[in-house]
Amino acid sequence: MEFPVQTGNPVKVETACLVLPVFEASDLLPTAAKLDDASERLVGQLIERGDFEAKLGNVLLIPFAPGVGADRLLLVGMGEREKCLESGFIKALDAAFKALAELPLDEATVAFTDVPLPGRNCDWKARMVAEAAHRAVYRFDRFKSEASAAPRLAAIALQVSENGNAAAAREGARIGKAVGEGVTHARTLGNLPGNICTPSYLADQAQALAESSDGALKVEILDEEAMEQLGANSLLAVGRGSEEPSRLIVMRYQGADSADDAPHVLIGKGITFDTGGISLKPGANLDETKFDMCGAASVLGTVKAILAIKPKLNLVFLVAAAENMPDGRALKPGDIIKTLKGLTVEVLNTDAEGRLVLCDTLTYAERFTPASVIDVATLTGAAIVALGHHASGLLANDDDLALDVLDAGQTAWDRAWHLPLWDEYQQQLDSNFADLANIGGPPAGTITAGCFLSRFADNFPWAHLDIAGTAWQTGKQKGATGRPVGLLTQYLLDREEDARSIENAREM
Ligand code: BES
Ligand code: MN
Ligand code: ZN
Repeated sequence: MEFPVQTGNPVKVETACLVLPVFEASDLLPTAAKLDDASERLVGQLIERGDFEAKLGNVLLIPFAPGVGADRLLLVGMGEREKCLESGFIKALDAAFKALAELPLDEATVAFTDVPLPGRNCDWKARMVAEAAHRAVYRFDRFKSEASAAPRLAAIALQVSENGNAAAAREGARIGKAVGEGVTHARTLGNLPGNICTPSYLADQAQALAESSDGALKVEILDEEAMEQLGANSLLAVGRGSEEPSRLIVMRYQGADSADDAPHVLIGKGITFDTGGISLKPGANLDETKFDMCGAASVLGTVKAILAIKPKLNLVFLVAAAENMPDGRALKPGDIIKTLKGLTVEVLNTDAEGRLVLCDTLTYAERFTPASVIDVATLTGAAIVALGHHASGLLANDDDLALDVLDAGQTAWDRAWHLPLWDEYQQQLDSNFADLANIGGPPAGTITAGCFLSRFADNFPWAHLDIAGTAWQTGKQKGATGRPVGLLTQYLLDREEDARSIENAREM
């Protein structure tokens, strides 16, 4: 989708639909006011007559608009002016784009950058517009014999009232488009069923990204034989009970001026189906374990966004891909495995498999002498208990890194919440027979999973995002969300900004 920015007279704008945000009981915003003046107070009268209530998320289509260039107007309620913050703004965007996507339009124009939001500039609003547009037109109907009518929207023009804000809106739209496409990619990978989206399929997806990248992305796929040679026994152990071979996917992006700049590393959990293994899960909602590769999907989605944005950074993306199945060769409770790091693990529950594939991948990341490592995983049901479906869980061995991740989530409005990784929790992983156990008992399951990973992350600044509650929706809305592509992309862009300020300071 395209997001051109325009600053001319909105009355003259020729567009199939001009979208006007409206506050309750407040003056019209600049674009709406101009339209109102040019149309014998069409907007003002509809409000006065009670035909349109500007409650947050309400929309009203005006199918004809005499005296103006737009074919239609769409009023969008923003609620009370004083109460309009980020979540309200985004709710209004989603309502507006849902309505637009249902109309027979190829393009529309929106005036959302008019909305005053404390602490958020034009750049941010434009970014959120682009992301919301992508969300609204997303469909996953590859397997429906009769595809539903796909939204035709291909361009959303941003009507910007202040000339001086045009460049910021353009930059915001550029990032929002890249993130939107990354999110779309992650959603589709997440939604694909386990019989299609296998570890080898994820590897093929990485190859495809590399092929589309003009040499910017290099991929290496480690197959089971290569992992055997390496000693990645823990990752391999998880896939043993499956007919689908496991893969360790390595992607490198070298965008920094110096090839020697330490890279930032992102790692995704790619369990393409999680039966629990011999510690078999109960039957209800087992289909949703196809989403257990959403960490991997978010890493691949972030790669897509990064390839579009082209930041000056060195990056490594790793995906630990396996299918967790019960069979004669499957890992059994009580089995002891030797990890790539050399630590031995007593597997007390084969359903705690995510940490087993991630621990070897964390060890693998050491070879890149990383500036930071973030792993992303649908790791624990306990994360849903603790945080529900709004915040991803964050654990880290470095407080500066944790703050950077929280900040990125705040900026991208893809938020995380920091949980403690105190030493006191570590003893829950004590094992009578090996260096550590793979489960820490019922209390604080998300934290003890983080504790497990931390044992393999002692040589670099590391953060872990538990996205069990945020990666997909259940029920009628069932489907992958594409989170946390927004957070991850922002985290990386912030690192580019850091590098730039250090460079500037040096030159002064
Ligand atoms: N992928 C699951 C975690 C999960 C469960 C995510 C439900 C979203 C919804 C993970 O592999 C798992 O099974 N974890 C276990 C760990 C336990 C055995 C210590 C869990 O959370 O129940
Ligand atoms: Mn599991
Ligand atoms: Zn799992």
